[in-house]
Amino acid sequence: PEVWRKDLKMINGYPMVYAFALNWERMEEFQGRPDDIVITTFPKSGTTWISEIVDMVLNDGDIEKCKRDVITTKIPMLELNYPEQNISGIEYLKTTPSPRIVKTHLPIDLLPKSLWENKCKMIYLARNAKDVAVSYYHFDLMNNLHPIPCTWEEYVPKFLAGNVPYGSWFNHVKSWWEKKKEHPLLFLYYEDLKQNPKEEIKKVASFLDKTLDEKTLDKIIHHTSFEMMKDNPMVNYTHLPSSMMDHSKSPFMRKGTVGDWKNYFTVAQNERFDAIYEKEMSGTTLKFCTEI
Ligand code: PPS
Repeated sequence: PEVWRKDLKMINGYPMVYAFALNWERMEEFQGRPDDIVITTFPKSGTTWISEIVDMVLNDGDIEKCKRDVITTKIPMLELNYPEQNISGIEYLKTTPSPRIVKTHLPIDLLPKSLWENKCKMIYLARNAKDVAVSYYHFDLMNNLHPIPCTWEEYVPKFLAGNVPYGSWFNHVKSWWEKKKEHPLLFLYYEDLKQNPKEEIKKVASFLDKTLDEKTLDKIIHHTSFEMMKDNPMVNYTHLPSSMMDHSKSPFMRKGTVGDWKNYFTVAQNERFDAIYEKEMSGTTLKFCTEI
């Protein structure tokens, strides 16, 4: 069936995996609620991590409550289409109790209007481009809904050209960065979260009008550390059928570090990447702390 096709389908100018494309076409059917919290990222930027943090913050660090269900069920992905169960994110979210946490990677112009109209709070997590590229490359190896894996050598130009699901990283981060001027949107960085989780989690709490004591903050930091999440079957994606994700090829919880790109980029690839990066990022005030 079409959902297992390995090439990408263009939706409004964005390349998309076939499985999700079916749901993209009916995105405007989705009805936002004013208390929805939207987690928005370019893929492989730490979506699962910030999702678990937000859930822990809302539940005052209650680990048992946060283990009520697997991550894909408790925090449904708006544009997802589970091919085997024939479940779409839009349908699924209709039955999700409020306050809903909604995961999405959609670019701004494809996000359903009602999320803007309802002024839903949004949290954007950005991660430096090179680590995203490495993580995304490994995701193709293990995710059967994704394009057929290629070599790293072949992957780098594809990533730079935005010829990957959801399109250009540059486009995504820049446009979401601009959006925070006019919409309640907390813009965070993976690298900051890694370096100083307490400060960043406090920002999340304050954005969601929650006050957490030190003990709760420490509990959240511990529960959402890479080491804990890697071994937590509710969040490490091992619950999905291996026909969809094959962790023996590359685990979903792979390394969880900053700067792994240095193990993959050759000098020539790095120079080429930097040249395009500089061009694409000129004219934006958006800066990454690693500044790649
Ligand atoms: S997805 O498929 O787009 O939703 O993937 P996403 O969750 O955005 O990104 C997966 C990468 O995030 C890393 N990760 C973490 N890093 C640090 N701490 C925690 N707790 C954590 N949880 C997930 C995960 O390992 C992937 O990055 P890489 O670099 O591949 O390890």
